[in-house]
Amino acid sequence: MLFMKFISRSLSDTEKLAERFLKGLTLAKDEATIIGLYGDLGSGKTTFVQAVGQLLGITEPMQSPTFVIIKTYNLQLTTNNKGFQNLIHVDSYRLEKGEELRKLGFKELLSHPKNLILIEWADRVAGVLPPDHIKLLCKFMDEQTREFTVENSKS
Ligand SMILES: Nc1ncnc2c1ncn2[C@@H]1O[C@H](COP(=O)(O)OP(=O)(O)OP(=O)(O)O)[C@@H](O)[C@H]1O
Ligand SMILES: [Mg+2]
Repeated sequence: MLFMKFISRSLSDTEKLAERFLKGLTLAKDEATIIGLYGDLGSGKTTFVQAVGQLLGITEPMQSPTFVIIKTYNLQLTTNNKGFQNLIHVDSYRLEKGEELRKLGFKELLSHPKNLILIEWADRVAGVLPPDHIKLLCKFMDEQTREFTVENSKS
């Protein structure tokens, strides 16, 4: 179990965290890489996902998929994307349990090693997430400050 605590005092700090976070990620061989984002409204979950997306070469605006729940971005192979082919942004805010994600084909997405899946409000769908997924705990400290804790149970 590895913990890392990071205080972000600006959007650019959060971008730096995203960069450091990506550097430390390695593709699993047999399943998708899953990042669960935990934390209240406005704690920085979407902002972090957007920063990761930008680093992986996504140029279109990334809104949180609050209504479609799952949004897939195909990554260009030319960008520095660590071998990931898809960034999949999930917003579980409107869901009550994992079963609802399963109905949207989530299990299939989990089975592809080249998928990087980032899930906002992961606590709401805990039932369909592998228990040892990487967790990013996001906390509002004040208007400009957020505390991010990375918890990686595999390291
Ligand atoms: N240091 C910081 N890091 C990240 N976001 C920050 C920071 N300081 C201010 N903010 C602002 O905080 C807000 C965070 O909103 P964001 O949508 O990322 O939160 P969220 O956790 O996804 O919320 P929701 O639960 O509504 O999905 C943004 O408006 C962002 O500009
Ligand atoms: Mg959000």
